[in-house]
Amino acid sequence: MPKEPLCIVGTGKVAQALIKNLKAYYLLHITSPSEDRAQELAEKYGINHIPYGNPLPHGRVIIVRKDADIEKTSEEISQFAPFTSHIHMSGMLSSDVLSSEKRCSMHPIMSITPDTSFQGVLFAVEGHIDICTDIIDALGGKYFQIDTEKKAIYHTALVFISNFTALNTLMGLALLREVGTLPPEIVDSVRNLSYTSIDNVLKYGKDGLTGPAARGDHETIEIEASLLDGFLRELYILQSDVIYKLHSGGGDNSEKDDSSKI
Ligand SMILES: NC(=O)c1ccc[n+]([C@@H]2O[C@H](COP(=O)([O-])OP(=O)(O)OC[C@H]3O[C@@H](n4cnc5c(N)ncnc54)[C@H](OP(=O)(O)O)[C@@H]3O)[C@@H](O)[C@H]2O)c1
Repeated sequence: MPKEPLCIVGTGKVAQALIKNLKAYYLLHITSPSEDRAQELAEKYGINHIPYGNPLPHGRVIIVRKDADIEKTSEEISQFAPFTSHIHMSGMLSSDVLSSEKRCSMHPIMSITPDTSFQGVLFAVEGHIDICTDIIDALGGKYFQIDTEKKAIYHTALVFISNFTALNTLMGLALLREVGTLPPEIVDSVRNLSYTSIDNVLKYGKDGLTGPAARGDHETIEIEASLLDGFLRELYILQSDVIYKLHSGGGDNSEKDDSSKI
């Protein structure tokens, strides 16, 4: 059976990972306003380059440009390729930013580089999901559907889980360097500490939180906060305060206190 055409719009990390993982299943085309890069990737991966603005094969396009460019790109494609359905992979934007009649978003819950395999990766999908589920199947992924209007809160959740956890680790590493020369084994120890802390919360919810604030060790918190300046100090106190409130019955119910959600 001839392969169905599928057009990748964009030339970044996700575009390259998609090309590598989907080449065997679809007749892939690439187009992008960055003509040189699109041409280069077409040659590198042996797929067809279509100059941006030229008619595209009827079918689907996956817009994997920067989030800020997705809406405009969809509008432009609707002008020069009006019979295409549009898909994007942004975590925050919903399919509402796309201008095609059939549209959806498929967001993989993982960090992607050109070498990423999507085998077993979970995607959050919304919109006309029938236009993307076969692509996720071909990638070896899995999916669950969310409401279009819940897309932004879904992404906010992932920012807490991914970005803020990583930021706290980065800040911890900076402070550890102040301790002095560290052995190479510190990397594994940090990874182990971080993974087990996350695992404890996944297993036990807020009861899985440990540390001075969970124990109510106010003196330790005061001493440690006094060693810090600027936003490190603010983040230490704010996070300790939230953990303490969670362990002492949910806080003072002021407007600013949302700990009952946790
Ligand atoms: N990477 C991730 O971990 C990840 C995970 C989930 C979802 N996403 C989503 O996937 C979409 C694409 O993200 P991405 O990570 O592929 O973005 P990216 O690597 O930053 O690429 C985005 C765009 O930046 C331009 N670009 C990239 N590398 C360039 C270079 N070396 N020189 C010049 N221009 C370059 C390209 O412009 P043109 O568009 O003009 O070709 C490319 O399409 C976004 O909607 C993002 O939210 C990303």
